[in-house]
Amino acid sequence: MGIAWSVLGNPALRLIDSEAAHSISMRVMKGIGETSAGQNILKALYGPPEVPIEVFGRMFHHPLGLAAGFDKGAEALMAWSAMGFSWTEYGGITRYPQDGNPKPRMFRANKHRALVNKMGFNNPGASEIRKRLISRKSEDKWPKTPIAANIGKSKKVPNDHAADDYASTLDILWDHADMFVLNISSPNTPGLRDLQNKEYLTSILRSCNKIRELKGEQKPILLKLSPDNSDDEILDAVSLCKKSGVDGIVATNTTIKRPAPLSTQSRKAFSNDGGLSGRPLNSRSLEIINLVYGETQGKIPIVGVGGIESKETAWEAIISGSSLIQLYSALVFNGPTVVSSIVKGIKNRVSESGFSSLSEAVGYKHI
Ligand SMILES: Cc1cc2nc3c(=O)[nH]c(=O)nc-3n(C[C@H](O)[C@H](O)[C@H](O)COP(=O)(O)O)c2cc1C
Repeated sequence: MGIAWSVLGNPALRLIDSEAAHSISMRVMKGIGETSAGQNILKALYGPPEVPIEVFGRMFHHPLGLAAGFDKGAEALMAWSAMGFSWTEYGGITRYPQDGNPKPRMFRANKHRALVNKMGFNNPGASEIRKRLISRKSEDKWPKTPIAANIGKSKKVPNDHAADDYASTLDILWDHADMFVLNISSPNTPGLRDLQNKEYLTSILRSCNKIRELKGEQKPILLKLSPDNSDDEILDAVSLCKKSGVDGIVATNTTIKRPAPLSTQSRKAFSNDGGLSGRPLNSRSLEIINLVYGETQGKIPIVGVGGIESKETAWEAIISGSSLIQLYSALVFNGPTVVSSIVKGIKNRVSESGFSSLSEAVGYKHI
């Protein structure tokens, strides 16, 4: 299995296009991680300890999940769970199939431990994903850990019809996820971030709530925020979330901002349009977690994501207010051992700090 993941860590592979390296690692994970023998190996190599926490009325083995965008097509759900993630967010899925932006569209800045991507929601569309997930279940390949679906807006649908577009995807995927994340914060679909404006957001949340009422089941609906919004804009969105019964807030998506480049490779990566993820995103993501926690008094669970790569960054996100956390970029740069090393670190911090459970640590900084 070390062989499997050395795919991304392998210096030779670092020379090839980032998206090609990602496709290889996805193929490996699909090939190995979807068989029971492969899962046993993954568990033996990477299995983290338990640090249980209850969020959205569900028990999670620990707080760390795989962030949206890594498994866009929900192709290796069993593998992520076997690798030790306590939950997985697949997608972004749009109502209609789309190719995404032309390649190359994913770039590494190794010195910064950062990625720049302008994927643009490449995905086979909600109906195809639904078919795949139905056959996955019939083959008994549905993980026991919670699964979230990330929903984006179809590029061809204008913002005035965005509410219907999100609601249709929610309707189609309803039986195929435990919770849903509305992504109105990707920088890679033109005009998407305008959906954070009050009018659009109100109508999106209303349409999605209507679907939920029709389904008669209280699955959590979360909203994913952009780190590029001002604090006031974040507070406006949070106030709308409170009014509209949004169950959770994901902080944050990628940023269009760039740090000063530390190398020629970074300079090249940063010169591309798109969203930056990884280490340089961490400080703004943390600011937003703190802001949202302070505003909601911890009443709306926060999923912290953005530059989480170590036990320190994970702990900071938790005491700042995150009940759950996620990562993407650190899996690329550190490989799968990052999961157990972070979870072990969290477990140690919980006992060193004298907390009786992880939930006592959530938002502790604000006390
Ligand atoms: C290549 C790539 C694709 C992504 N696709 C999505 C997506 O489809 N939907 C979404 O909400 N976030 C997407 N993200 C954002 C991540 O879910 C996450 O919010 C961001 O990468 C910050 O986490 P990190 O610093 O641990 O990578 C993507 C990120 C990357 C690097």
